[in-house]
Amino acid sequence: MKTLQKIKIAGKTVLPIVEGGKGIMVSNGTTAGHFARAGAVGTLSGTAADRVPRHERIFHAKTVRQRQDEVQEQNTAGVVAQTNLACEISNGNGVVMMNVLWELGRIVPILEGVLPLVRGKLDAVACGAGMPFQLAELCAKNGIYFVPIISSARAFKILWARGFKPHKEWLGAVIYEDPWLAGGHLGITNSDPIDKPVKPMDKLIELRSLMRELGIGEDVPIIMAGGVWNLAEWQDFIDNPAIGAIAFQFGTRPILVQESHVAKKWQPILMNLTKDDIAVNKFSPTGFYSMAVRNSFFKRLEARKATEDWDGPRGENTVGMSTPDGKKVWLTRAEADDIKKMRGECVGCIAHCSFSGFCDFGDTTMPLDPRSFCISRQLYWACYNENPDEHLMFVGANGHRFATDPMYENDHIPTIKELVQAIMEGR
Ligand SMILES: Cc1cc2nc3c(=O)[nH]c(=O)nc-3n(C[C@H](O)[C@H](O)[C@H](O)COP(=O)(O)O)c2cc1C
Repeated sequence: MKTLQKIKIAGKTVLPIVEGGKGIMVSNGTTAGHFARAGAVGTLSGTAADRVPRHERIFHAKTVRQRQDEVQEQNTAGVVAQTNLACEISNGNGVVMMNVLWELGRIVPILEGVLPLVRGKLDAVACGAGMPFQLAELCAKNGIYFVPIISSARAFKILWARGFKPHKEWLGAVIYEDPWLAGGHLGITNSDPIDKPVKPMDKLIELRSLMRELGIGEDVPIIMAGGVWNLAEWQDFIDNPAIGAIAFQFGTRPILVQESHVAKKWQPILMNLTKDDIAVNKFSPTGFYSMAVRNSFFKRLEARKATEDWDGPRGENTVGMSTPDGKKVWLTRAEADDIKKMRGECVGCIAHCSFSGFCDFGDTTMPLDPRSFCISRQLYWACYNENPDEHLMFVGANGHRFATDPMYENDHIPTIKELVQAIMEGR
């Protein structure tokens, strides 16, 4: 095992280990603070962030646009609270980063509102899921580093030309997220199709040569995310001149840490995953592919999709709902009523939602897809309801390794300090 050297990320010299940001409070000020305290990079989720103590998911306004105001107000208070918490725990060590999805509803006003409030505390903003052209400007204005999450050098080149270049001194790092292995939403595209995985080594070399071509300094690291379990398996990537400065991001492993508020509830499921229990799917209302646990919730979506093959209703209580691609799926009346109710309660959390039809821009709507689901509720419920098996659980392709990794034997849940130490030792 090569000795890992500290490197510069977002202007600070830290261990080359990054906590992957995980939406709706799977990663938060507590987890981020402890990663930073251990001398690494902690990432709190800035998506529906909790105030402290946690907020209930209750909205009072009548229209979706007004409910967006409520979401924005609560989220702003939440990000400030989680950032303060992270800084308190970190005690000035490491890097505290926030993760947001560019595909969030009202992302620009959200960042415009919140960044001045966390200026001087938050070191960086990591952002993917879409093309965050304005990210660099929004961060630079507030003296905060920006850390784009990309899945191809091509995407980075476009972002550089159309938004990043004038603010290059605030580029804190570039996260390459492997679209075939990472947990959560994936950057699978027509040029990187689902059935043609490219080795991360090739992708990182391509990215570094592009960064060199663009004149980006050697001290700006690439953060490798997706499919990283232990660094003993990534030795070729360390001290590799073709890749240059590198750090590693861990998304799935830090779900099972003492400081994570979901760990105890998710543990029985994560500890029993096999490879077949994890799947890439296209159910997310964002339209992106995503990687998740094939739990009861997921299997119900699969079963619903399979009714596309029915040639008519089966049973008296079956309701047909049309899909945007001219098909029909068949649901129970209770399921259909539930979908209508949830659509009526939409809070406009993402910019384009194929479940509710909400679109952030103008008066247009998206075609409604009953094969999808309300993502903000599902992610929230997976964190806070009793049984995550009934809700959306994102996980990386390596999630099945909890079952065989000796660290987790006898139901052991490590602390973040212990996890960082193990990662440094290649375990
Ligand atoms: C439960 C879960 C939620 C996630 N949520 C987000 C998110 O909100 N934003 C984001 O950019 N990435 C998200 N990710 C991706 C992680 O930050 C990380 O890049 C990825 O999981 C790395 O792959 P690994 O799981 O193989 O370690 C999520 C991953 C998981 C497992």
